[in-house]
Amino acid sequence: MGFYKAYSCLLLYSLLGVCTLRHCCGFGLEDDQPATLLIDASPQSAKKIPDTLFGIFFEEINHAGAGGLWAELVSNRGFEAGGPNTPSNIDPWSIIGNESSVIVSTDRSSCFELNKVALKMEVVCDNEGPNACPPDGVGIYNPGFWGMNIQEGKTYKVILYIRSLGPVNISVSLTSSDGLQTLASSRIQATYFEVSNWKRIELILVSKATNKDSRIQLTSNAKGIIWFDQVSVMPLDTYKGHGFRQDLFEMLADLKPRFLRFPGGSYVEGSWLSNAFRWKPTIGPWEERSGHFNDVWNYWTDDGLGYFEFLQLAEDLGATPVWVFNSGISHNDEIDTLDISSFVKDLLDSIEFARGSSSSTWGSVRAAMGHPKPFDLKYVAIGNQDCSKKNYIGNYNKFYSALKTAYPDINVITNCDASSGRLDHPADLYDLHVYTSANGMISMAHHFDHTPRVGPKAFVSEYAVTGRDAGRGSLLAALAQAAFLIGLEVNSDVVEMASNAPLLVNDNDWRFTPDAIVFNSWQLYGTPTYWMQQFFTESSGAVIFPIKMVSNPSNSLVASAIKWRCSEDEIYFRVKVVNVLAKTVSVKISVTGLDASVNPLMSFKTVLTSINPMDENSFGEPEKVTAKEMSFPSASTEMNALLPAHSLTSFDLFLAPLTSAS
Ligand code: AHR
Repeated sequence: MGFYKAYSCLLLYSLLGVCTLRHCCGFGLEDDQPATLLIDASPQSAKKIPDTLFGIFFEEINHAGAGGLWAELVSNRGFEAGGPNTPSNIDPWSIIGNESSVIVSTDRSSCFELNKVALKMEVVCDNEGPNACPPDGVGIYNPGFWGMNIQEGKTYKVILYIRSLGPVNISVSLTSSDGLQTLASSRIQATYFEVSNWKRIELILVSKATNKDSRIQLTSNAKGIIWFDQVSVMPLDTYKGHGFRQDLFEMLADLKPRFLRFPGGSYVEGSWLSNAFRWKPTIGPWEERSGHFNDVWNYWTDDGLGYFEFLQLAEDLGATPVWVFNSGISHNDEIDTLDISSFVKDLLDSIEFARGSSSSTWGSVRAAMGHPKPFDLKYVAIGNQDCSKKNYIGNYNKFYSALKTAYPDINVITNCDASSGRLDHPADLYDLHVYTSANGMISMAHHFDHTPRVGPKAFVSEYAVTGRDAGRGSLLAALAQAAFLIGLEVNSDVVEMASNAPLLVNDNDWRFTPDAIVFNSWQLYGTPTYWMQQFFTESSGAVIFPIKMVSNPSNSLVASAIKWRCSEDEIYFRVKVVNVLAKTVSVKISVTGLDASVNPLMSFKTVLTSINPMDENSFGEPEKVTAKEMSFPSASTEMNALLPAHSLTSFDLFLAPLTSAS
């Protein structure tokens, strides 16, 4: 294929340690002839692309969920992050006042059995007199995840649990980070009898101003002892009230993902099994969830975004869920296959939770959470990147046979690569992760050209250009990935699913770069990889046609041609071409056998490019590298076009049915 020469050049420069695509473009290009793409669009050449081909992979990494997609504004709402032994660290909670006015500690007096730690606040100053409390009171505050974005006119639901040894008069306020600007405030006034046992308080606050760096504070100027637990601030405008931050949800929905793989990644494994994601503690009322330390990515999560919420997210996105279950293996410890049966049972329980009737043991828990209808769970992956681990195959086989016995329609995904050899165990799909340089990614476009056409299908559940070629999300990375995805489209008879990784990064916690979407509490932008994926959103379920490339002297182009349906009577023929060179390439596209005519007035062209292949987007320039759509009046079955340097172009030809006259 054409790009091998470019690839060899890239490889050479990379060996010389100076690799960018710009360095690789000088060779004899002046003599280039226009490249020609011959596309056979006859119906008999069409091959259906799997409906599931392109989806997304959500991992709790980079604060993607806690402090990200999950809209909870309070960090460490249950005071469990400091561990079960008290006194404990209450970070990021802090104290308003000093030790002569307020004493704060933790103890294990919570009413919630699985998360016993509560915060004890002893106000030692008086209402008045020589030891009077400051006028605004003393207490505690929580800045959320690097500041709460509180917006004017928006409504927030505050829930907290309190207990006291006397009557209480507590001010609950959303304020600026220094506490000087009050955005919204309410009071909890209760008699001793009302709060002598734990009491749930719910308040609605409407903010009268906007402040992107806000906090919640709980203050009092009445002497006494108050316990707090499970303090939550949720904006009311989450997607369908399901708890997903609207702007981030919309970014995901715009990718039209056909599947959602969750919740990891390494997050599923844990550095140690004791910290791995376990689904049971993440379901049911959020107040009762224990939360856990995400020891791979080094932060606490309250597990507001739990197993149920992931299934809900998939449903809300119209994506089929892909549930990655711990194989009994973490990065540092493993369960012996002889002891794996309780994990197997746990997996079966999780499927019953998702799919069982509302009268089943676990299905009834789901129903009680507000979703009596079963979720459409059909894909389960056993483990993440565990194939080479000592107990993987043994454990996998136990999971596989139990799953297939109980749920024969579930597609089981192994961690072992079947693209280069036969598996020694049964599987419906195999998981492959591709992290490499731009050169490596471009060459991977051909990885599946010669893999066996029978046997389990490939699920490329994580792919990304990483390292120097990628920066924090370069155009170069996006173009190399586009070339790779075109290779997957072409080989979609053996590749059933693919997703980029990671999906989201909170700008305050870059644990893994690059990512598709960058956000903070109030802003977000897509990296070029995000916009690149939008060129592929119509591919799942479309049909693909063969392309022959002739006179492609620059050896620089990677292309595919699909037919996709936009609506009942809107059908497009889309040709996508990646040009990895630093010069414009002219291309002649010839489409034969099409069972429709092209309407140029309704056709359009979309281009993703920038001046420099290392260009990135940022909060300052969120649209420096984005796809630009334009009309395409010269659309035809025979057309000439120019492909800008370092670009991905899609030509969408609007198809009108052939009339008898045409
Ligand atoms: O995508 C980031 C990490 O990369 C995933 O957690 C892991 O599966 C891979 O190593």
